[in-house]
Amino acid sequence: MSMKNNIKESSTKGLLGLIGLLVMLLAVTGACTPGKQPASETQSHENGIQRSVFGKMADGQEVHLYKLTNANGMQVAITNYGGRIVSILAPDRNGKMADVVLGFDNLSDYMKYNTYFGALVGRYANRIGGAQFTLDGKVYHLPVNNGPNSLHGGIKGFDKRVWTAKEIPGDEPGLELTYLSKDGEEGYPGNLKATVVYTLTKDNSIKIDYSATTDKDTVINLTNHSYFNLAGEGNGNVLKQVLWIHSDEITPVNATQIPTGKIMKVDGTPFDFRKPTPIGARINEDNPQLKIGKGYDINYILDRKGPGLELAARAYDPESGRELEVYTTEPGIQFYSGNFLDGSIPGKGGAKYGGRAAFCLETQHYPDSPNHPSFPTTELKPGQTFHQVTVFKFATTSQ
Ligand code: BGC
Repeated sequence: MSMKNNIKESSTKGLLGLIGLLVMLLAVTGACTPGKQPASETQSHENGIQRSVFGKMADGQEVHLYKLTNANGMQVAITNYGGRIVSILAPDRNGKMADVVLGFDNLSDYMKYNTYFGALVGRYANRIGGAQFTLDGKVYHLPVNNGPNSLHGGIKGFDKRVWTAKEIPGDEPGLELTYLSKDGEEGYPGNLKATVVYTLTKDNSIKIDYSATTDKDTVINLTNHSYFNLAGEGNGNVLKQVLWIHSDEITPVNATQIPTGKIMKVDGTPFDFRKPTPIGARINEDNPQLKIGKGYDINYILDRKGPGLELAARAYDPESGRELEVYTTEPGIQFYSGNFLDGSIPGKGGAKYGGRAAFCLETQHYPDSPNHPSFPTTELKPGQTFHQVTVFKFATTSQ
């Protein structure tokens, strides 16, 4: 029966009932209006982008936090300081949300601690041996910040730069970040224009699309350094979380974690994740490569069919059912089991992130490629465009 007919037929008593119903309806509608409910509830049904001030740099420049939310209520928060993923709210098998990445509550802690939580890493993700490389016959010296080597782009890499941000609203909200790294910055040649677009898709994926151009021959290797804990950050370690990596070879390293240049089969070693295996199942085995990294900290050569986006790894937490799939166009992935975390830094809400409180799956070219002509090249020349795409797809599993 239509509302119109209903009113016609109504007695005074019925009319009063209808007014009551309208009042109730208004109250319910009001409850769904942003600002009338606790922020967490309203945000989880919003679909778009919210921007807030995250803090200020020493020179007074404001840094922002962008919260992208999709229609499923999944949310990713990104700051333009280091292009970092600050939080990812993902549902478990019962729909309960948890923040699945390690991080800090405020900008000053991101500036203070060198953990690369959630960061865009460049110009060269991972290590360059002896902090130098030769390109076109010229030796380039880089900042030494990890034993004798240069790690993650130097002292002030992309993770510590303020990127220019542009919101991309829509059903699949996005954030475009751009940064111009000047010729000679952190020792690298060429003015390098980098663009990274984060998109939160309808199917609960975070797509990261990286591109870059240069005006001089240079080298480049970009990645995202999110530390995942599928049980939720601060919820203990990830040793029971199960991992599969689509790879049968690694690039073994020397004592300072630089690839020896050899390729090692994972067959019969604790590095074999060709069958889904708990991260902790073999992490303490007596293996020289595990000893060097104090756990897993190694580049896997992905088993690839071609240059496109391919599934590289899958992890799940048997307890909550949260699952992460990593797709990439890159030839390698650094699996790092958070071995150097020691509980000494104050995480979100005062959480203490101890050893193995998270795992990283850093899609990349192999470490130290500029010094290994046999590895896939990381050289970028004027007129070429560097392009890499990585997708972190969240789902749930009944396993
Ligand atoms: C490296 C680790 C390092 C971590 C934090 C990872 O990419 O492989 O050795 O400790 O980043 O810097």
